[in-house]
Amino acid sequence: MASTQPAAPEQWRSQTGFVLAALGAAVGLGNVWRFSYVAGENGGGAFILVYAALVLLVGYPLLLAEFAVGRSAQSESAAAYGRLAPGSRWRGIGLLGVLAALAILFYYPVVAGWALKYLALYAFDPAEAARPGAAPERFQSFIAEPLQPLLWMGAMLAATVAIVWMGIARGIERASALLMPALAVILLLLAGYGLSLEGAGQALAFLFRPDWDALARPQLYLAAIGQAFFSIGLAMGVMVTYASYLPRDRALPGAALAVVAGDTLFAVVAGLVVFPAVFTFGGDPAQGPVLAFVTLPQVFAHMPGGAVFALGFFALLVIAAVTSLVSLLEVPVAWLMRRWRWRRSRASVAVGIVAFAAGVPASLGHGPWREARIAGLPILEAMDHGASNLLLPVSGILIALFVGWCWRRGDALAGSGLQPESLAVAWRWALRYAVPALLALVLVAGVRA
Ligand code: TRP
Repeated sequence: MASTQPAAPEQWRSQTGFVLAALGAAVGLGNVWRFSYVAGENGGGAFILVYAALVLLVGYPLLLAEFAVGRSAQSESAAAYGRLAPGSRWRGIGLLGVLAALAILFYYPVVAGWALKYLALYAFDPAEAARPGAAPERFQSFIAEPLQPLLWMGAMLAATVAIVWMGIARGIERASALLMPALAVILLLLAGYGLSLEGAGQALAFLFRPDWDALARPQLYLAAIGQAFFSIGLAMGVMVTYASYLPRDRALPGAALAVVAGDTLFAVVAGLVVFPAVFTFGGDPAQGPVLAFVTLPQVFAHMPGGAVFALGFFALLVIAAVTSLVSLLEVPVAWLMRRWRWRRSRASVAVGIVAFAAGVPASLGHGPWREARIAGLPILEAMDHGASNLLLPVSGILIALFVGWCWRRGDALAGSGLQPESLAVAWRWALRYAVPALLALVLVAGVRA
């Protein structure tokens, strides 16, 4: 069978390059666009507390599990599990990852396109962008158009395809090494400005003072776990695939820690950009997915230096989105290359076209199809909710169970690279019992509530 022949392996040039690429996958729209409104809707402080706890208890062990599976199998997601446990019924879970990556690819580029449109708006027409009171109407009429949002989405996908086409070291690694430091600089500048605003104290209280009553709501935990999976980039084959481009002797625990910590830090600091502005200039922090595109532009219009701040903010969103889009595209691309022996160029273009076509409903769901509802939500929100709060946790349970029960004990412990062995044993224990149990509990309670 084709899958058992060793292909000429592509590899990261350096460990730093791998960490930056994985961080690029993790840090995305989820950290800025999604984190801010999900935290806002779930009361701020209490959400962040639960979020941080779940990242540590569930996110870290699972990320390390994906890294270990990918590096040990030296294969993209779909074939990786079968290589570690040949003949096992579980080997299908890798293919689930490929499908799940496609599911996110079906709406993520839409929001990425919105971000690019707003970046262009603030870059080329700052006067119009800053017209007070124009923000809600502008966003509504922009997304209500059938064609314009699709063009911006297409532009983001084209950039993504170009990077993936160039390959692991020359495309993804180089782009990440360039873009991730730029991202950090912009973020810190914006957060510095945010903290100098009058509403900074209120924002800090909102973000860090837990409202204990909120902890009684099961939806809070489901929202937190969905956000953690989405933000870290778990359970979609991305991290398995990225780790498969590592030589077998590379250390994983530190890399996984860097990704989890960096991703969480990035989200919290992004909160220090968004919320001080919102509190200083009077917006509602719990405005849902339009927070970044309506509430914030309204805030920017009243802010001294708001146009520059806005330019930085949307540049941040666009850069963060590109490196994440790249990771999502790479999963099906790597699968097509291994399974069907497609060339990288052909696979990248094909997946880009599929993502574009599939993005049409989610995009139109805010325009001509805005009345359409799936489970009571607009198309894009329904896809996001289904993927993040259902598909990702379910796939996470399966990955934990695979590594905990199905992969041979010695291989799994060694595969994690954790030292001393007692740590590796604790990690495996977490994946056997704690992680699946916690995920199942959160899922059942959250879905029923
Ligand atoms: N983590 C990215 C974000 O925060 C999105 C993303 C990229 C993702 N790759 C993923 C989400 C894999 C889930 C799984 O925006």
